[in-house]
Amino acid sequence: MQRKEFIKNSCLLCFGVAAGLSLSGCGAIPIYKPTIENKIIYLDEQKMVVNKLNIIQHASLPYDILLVKNEKGFYALRMQCTHQNQPLVATNTGLFCNAHGSSFNLDGKAMKEPAINPLKKYIVTKVGQQLLIQL
Ligand code: FES
Repeated sequence: MQRKEFIKNSCLLCFGVAAGLSLSGCGAIPIYKPTIENKIIYLDEQKMVVNKLNIIQHASLPYDILLVKNEKGFYALRMQCTHQNQPLVATNTGLFCNAHGSSFNLDGKAMKEPAINPLKKYIVTKVGQQLLIQL
């Protein structure tokens, strides 16, 4: 493990403990690299292990996107802090910003300041075996 990565991971753990998270919320979230055309993300559901949470990464996206599955279907959240636009860290219990300590629940609602606005939310449409996210 590189020194920088070690420090980052250690800080995340400390932050999580300080925020009162249980360690059971630290499970790894699968990451997918989708196809993006005409500002639409295409995810092939058959090629995914569709967990409750999946992180979508693509070189053309300025921020990762968290795909959330619940009993009603899917939605997606841009992992961009609404305080000062820093990237967020996702866990199984919410999203956290290491810059100034804001946190968001899995609906995208700001739960801890300084961020007060909710995360950008995307509608996810299922067409056949594909999940489409309109950017
Ligand atoms: S940028 Fe996220 S809390 Fe400030």
